Amino acid sequence: MANIIGVIGAGTMGSGIAQVAALAGYRVLLYDIERSALDRGLDVICKNLDKGVEKQKLTKEQSEKARQKIETTVDFILLKNSTTVIEAAVERFDIKKGLFQRLDEMLPHESIIATNTSSLSITALGAVTKRTDRVVGMHFFNPAHIMKLVEIIKGKETSHTTISRITSLTKEFGKTPVLASDTPGFIVNRVARPFYGEALRILGEGVSDIAEIDRIVKKSGGFKMGPFELMDLIGIDVNLSVSKSVYE
Ligand SMILES: NC(=O)c1ccc[n+]([C@@H]2O[C@H](COP(=O)([O-])OP(=O)(O)OC[C@H]3O[C@@H](n4cnc5c(N)ncnc54)[C@H](O)[C@@H]3O)[C@@H](O)[C@H]2O)c1
Repeated sequence: MANIIGVIGAGTMGSGIAQVAALAGYRVLLYDIERSALDRGLDVICKNLDKGVEKQKLTKEQSEKARQKIETTVDFILLKNSTTVIEAAVERFDIKKGLFQRLDEMLPHESIIATNTSSLSITALGAVTKRTDRVVGMHFFNPAHIMKLVEIIKGKETSHTTISRITSLTKEFGKTPVLASDTPGFIVNRVARPFYGEALRILGEGVSDIAEIDRIVKKSGGFKMGPFELMDLIGIDVNLSVSKSVYE
């Protein structure tokens, strides 16, 4: 079977993950429910690849090869030949549950379903399938084509073989895998909740304004981005979903 990586969701994260997988030499099938999202996602990938060539991080040949490795589709059934599917659709359990159930029915027995969820339970997502040992968290950071860290999350029934396969894949992607247990927000998103929450409180109490809070955190705290800049990059809607999910 050809080694195909299926990626679900062509938004901020899915498009970055597709780019990373293609640059590592994999054939990538990028699926979304919206044709327009696929067009936008592919456009972002092409621009990022061009930037990589401009900055001499990639050769023109590497960039063209990667572009050719990515196919897009709105036809879910085409994902059926994937050896690994990395799900990066919206942060909603009901939507991910539906996707996982459909994937479980059509994927080959040995294929792995990985999810880029920021906060949902890997164990609970695995439990909607009959392949609880082959469901795993693979949490990339934004922008996925640049950030090195990937949290690998072991659900209660995720097997060691699955962890080892996903850890190897992460390394092939040129990333740094870190194993985390299946707790809300895992490591980074748990540590990050007060970063955003307290900044919003400071703003709400009128202690300071957005630009000043970002400026102080960067200048005095040594952070690359302030909390408000980072919330904008992540997407206010995405960050709110994650906060709710960690809270719940
Ligand atoms: N934005 C971040 O900084 C960030 C970082 C790490 C992880 N994540 C996680 O990655 C996932 C995706 O987040 P994002 O920021 O890329 O979201 P996004 O809103 O940019 O993209 C989501 C995409 O999923 C598509 N989609 C919605 N329902 C779908 C379905 N049923 N099937 C297929 N595609 C569907 C949408 O059309 C959209 O293109 C979420 O689970 C999020 O928590 C986000």
